[in-house]
Amino acid sequence: MQDRPAPEQVVPAADLTEAQVQFFQKNGYLQVDRITTDAEVEWLRGVYDRLFAARAGEAEGRYFDLGGPRGHTGREGLPQILAPERAAPELCDTLVYRNARRLAARLLRCPEDTVTGGGHMILKPARYGQETPWHQDEAYWSPDVVLERVSVWVPLDPATVESGCMQFIPGSHHTEIRTHRHIGNNPLIHGLVTDDVDPAHAVACPIPAGGATCHHPRTLHYSGPNVTGHCRRAYVLVLGAPPKPRDVPARRPWLDEERRALQARSGQDGAA
Ligand code: NI
Repeated sequence: MQDRPAPEQVVPAADLTEAQVQFFQKNGYLQVDRITTDAEVEWLRGVYDRLFAARAGEAEGRYFDLGGPRGHTGREGLPQILAPERAAPELCDTLVYRNARRLAARLLRCPEDTVTGGGHMILKPARYGQETPWHQDEAYWSPDVVLERVSVWVPLDPATVESGCMQFIPGSHHTEIRTHRHIGNNPLIHGLVTDDVDPAHAVACPIPAGGATCHHPRTLHYSGPNVTGHCRRAYVLVLGAPPKPRDVPARRPWLDEERRALQARSGQDGAA
């Protein structure tokens, strides 16, 4: 694998204008053409491919198919790695990480040194990579805390409508958390979907490798199946303020369904 490029050698603009910050506040998303260099994208692809080949963190539940029942089938349609920085801490010492923190600080109007959080990686394999159906990210999060965060979604391959670029419903972050359900109504599938979204209102954001889209945790978003002959690798950094406890937990029954389904399955495994 090639050496990691020194991040201090190059500083592409991740500083946002006031107009960009206001666009984000109004619409709940923002497109940034470039937050890292071609050399770092190439290096990140090497790290990414190594982590997916190893199914890093699978034993701890951090590698699984977001779009299918848990368990390695050899044909995961939407494989995901949570907290890849645990297996590859060098990811935190990159231009992409530093610029994502800077973007989050600007968008949340908070000091950069208070920004915390981590990442996940979602792969859409060539030809059979599944769609990521309409959802709000906050629906996945613990009902016990409030998180003021921004997701910075960075593709390592060109993200087009055909390969699965992000699509957003502008202004949807001003709404509450909708009712979500598990893909296929199967609570063993981690992926969530919310119904009754009108895709006629969606804005697709094709961006080059090394660009970014940022979104608010309540912004409705979607990405289509990958119908191209190339995989679509994405590294997502979810960054912002430390979690604050909620006085009253939010109501997210889909999380309870998943927990119960996993407990029931592990009970069966134990009995077998
Ligand atoms: Ni999402």
